[in-house]
Amino acid sequence: MACAQGKKAPEASEAGKALYEDKCAHCHGIEGAGDGSAAENLLPRPRDFTRGLYKIRSTEGSQLPTDQDLFDIISNGMPGSSMPAWSEILTEDERWQLVAHIKTFHDGFEGASPRLIDVSGKVPYSEESVTKGKVFYTNLGCVDCHGVIGRGDGTSAPDLTDEWGFRTWPANLWHPWNYRGGSTTEAIFRRFIGGIAGSPMPSFISSFRLGLTDEESARMTELEFKMDGDGLSEAEEGEYAELEEKLFMFEDIMLKVEEGEELAPDEQTKLNTALKPIFEKSWHLANYVKSLGPMSNHNRRSETKCCALNIAPMRYRA
Ligand code: HEC
Ligand code: HEC
Repeated sequence: MACAQGKKAPEASEAGKALYEDKCAHCHGIEGAGDGSAAENLLPRPRDFTRGLYKIRSTEGSQLPTDQDLFDIISNGMPGSSMPAWSEILTEDERWQLVAHIKTFHDGFEGASPRLIDVSGKVPYSEESVTKGKVFYTNLGCVDCHGVIGRGDGTSAPDLTDEWGFRTWPANLWHPWNYRGGSTTEAIFRRFIGGIAGSPMPSFISSFRLGLTDEESARMTELEFKMDGDGLSEAEEGEYAELEEKLFMFEDIMLKVEEGEELAPDEQTKLNTALKPIFEKSWHLANYVKSLGPMSNHNRRSETKCCALNIAPMRYRA
């Protein structure tokens, strides 16, 4: 997991500001608060840039996007929303000037060096991978929002709102052409690992107890059930405390990551080791999501019966 590199935006300039006010402000607002004159009639609402919450990022967790991410979204637009693609309207230089201007709306960009999501472990598409991914789709609670076969009609779907209190809907996974961040396997994988900031769609990583193996995590859940019921024996209490200790150690590492602090080499190694199996699951899940939709053979087949796999229950952040 490298730190964000790639092309950097130039210094913010009068030219960028003028372009923004001409082309973007009627939706995003002069001060970037998502409150331009057209905003009221749009859903999803134009992004409020003051919060630093961006949906489409190549960076982990709820970190800021890279300059390249912003440039790409300005160039390509956001399918399924009113955010236009500007690549044929504005020159490359103009789009970079806009990136620089948008960053002035949020202080956090100064000195930020977000961690890039490592896509090097891609698991190639295969029936086997799709079958594995389907199990995660059910066990991780994707169904609650996206529905049993991914039509965007899960039981939680009717009551979702975004960070600004506006109504939002889970994506229909049979309409990948409407994905805001594109529908390549890599793009989907990045949305899982990074989550979609500002929306109820959680980061996949938050569903796992980082630092515990699947077995340890399942055992912890078992002990928690017992704790709420008959209570734990002394030996079990000791076992629980040990598992908790492992979790706490990891929470410290994750806190550092979230705050953009440098990790010590041994912490970095621990993190990478813990993330590896989660990333692998996420690739399987991305392959499963790719298999959905009218063009795919997969959904014509009878639903395979699911699934006695022991992974941690859903632990989505509120
Ligand atoms: C017609 C209205 C409209 C105009 C004009 C517009 N946008 Fe947007 N923009 C949106 C909407 C709506 C969203 C949010 C879509 C969503 O949340 O799915 C958005 C989102 C964005 C995002 C956030 C991407 C992310 O990952 O969350 C950026 C950056 C952005 N716009 C930049 C611009 C720039 C720069 C311009 C001017 C060149 C511009 N927009 C013009 C409507 C507009
Ligand atoms: C709490 C509800 C919720 C859960 C749980 C959830 N999602 Fe989502 N998901 C959403 C919402 C809402 C959106 C639309 C985000 C937006 O653009 O505002 C979304 C968007 C998506 C997208 C489209 C990404 C894009 O670029 O537009 C995919 C793919 C997706 N979810 C897959 C999944 C998978 C797989 C899981 C399980 C690991 C999952 N989601 C869990 C609510 C949820």
